[in-house]
This record gives sequence, structure tokens and C-alpha cells, in this order.
Amino acid sequence: MISIQVCVGSSCHLKGAHDVVQAFKREISSRKLDQEVFLTGAFCLGRCIDGVSIKIDDELILGVTPESVPEIFLNRVVSVLGG
Ligand code: FES
Repeated sequence: MISIQVCVGSSCHLKGAHDVVQAFKREISSRKLDQEVFLTGAFCLGRCIDGVSIKIDDELILGVTPESVPEIFLNRVVSVLGG
């Protein structure tokens, strides 16, 4: 199980955190990984200026946009799960 936390603090919210969440949801459902990926929101991850901030397991990733989600998902989730 891999956990993805998307910061939904106010700064990241303004930078489009909701769209980032939707982009991850699309990746998870199109690859049928609902049982293997746990997507959740997080409170401010402390890097507001560099948002949208996310955490995949314990790794902090900054400056995430909906456009960058597919590549992040492929490299940090799908490849780790052996897909
Ligand atoms: S609001 Fe997202 S890192 Fe602070």
C-alpha cells in the first residue's frame, strides 16, 4: 500500500490542490489501483510557497500540478508497485 497525501491547506488549495487530487483519482481508477493506493488530504505540509505540496509515503514532492501528476504517478507509484 502506498499513501499519497495532497496538501489541502489554504495556500495549496489556492494553487489548485483540488485539481491535483482529481488527477490522482483518475490515475488510480484508470489503473485499477484502488486497493493499493491510499489517497488522502493533508494539512499544511509547511512548504506553502512551493505548493502544491504532496507526500508519497514519506517523500515530500513540491510544485505539483495536474499536468505533472501522470509522470509522478508512473515513477513513484506504478514502478514501485511493479506495474
Ligand atoms: S498549504 Fe500546502 S504546504 Fe502549506
